[in-house]
Amino acid sequence: MEKTVITYGTFDMFHIGHLKLLKRLDAMGAKLIVGVSTDEFNDVKGKKTLIPYDQRAAIVEAIDCVDMVIPEHSWDQKLSDVEQYSVDVFAIGDDWSGKFDFLKDYCEVVYLERTKDISTSGLKKSLTRLLSVSSEDLTNAFNVLDILRKELR
Ligand code: CTP
Repeated sequence: MEKTVITYGTFDMFHIGHLKLLKRLDAMGAKLIVGVSTDEFNDVKGKKTLIPYDQRAAIVEAIDCVDMVIPEHSWDQKLSDVEQYSVDVFAIGDDWSGKFDFLKDYCEVVYLERTKDISTSGLKKSLTRLLSVSSEDLTNAFNVLDILRKELR
């Protein structure tokens, strides 16, 4: 029987760790459903995204190996999703190891090793660092341009 696989995540600033996870999930079954956390649910989780839900969902939906995107509104919906979509495998990165074992009565539960050295929070930190550096650089660049402009007049 062909398996239906489901996973959940925020997928903000879509990166190679997300892509590798989705590809590995695709290889585990015939149909891949991805629950993308809504902005409201991210508030509940204490996560602030850079990219709004509609765009995060559209990006995940555009990935070839993804068959269906559903909104993830709450912690509680997983069991009803597993039943509604006749899910065979629930799979997620191992940063969630053990957290969803309660689904084992209803489907197979798999925790996959995360891709090393990449995360949305890491990207956000780099961006913050980059922006604070570049705001100085930007000011300097503007000052230099200003001087050049005055000299070329
Ligand atoms: N994931 C992964 N490898 C990474 C980053 C994420 O396999 N390097 C997986 C997560 O384990 C999860 C899914 O991708 O199953 C969506 O993760 P998400 O929380 O949206 O991404 P993160 O980069 O982990 O975001 P954050 O740093 O905000 O936790």
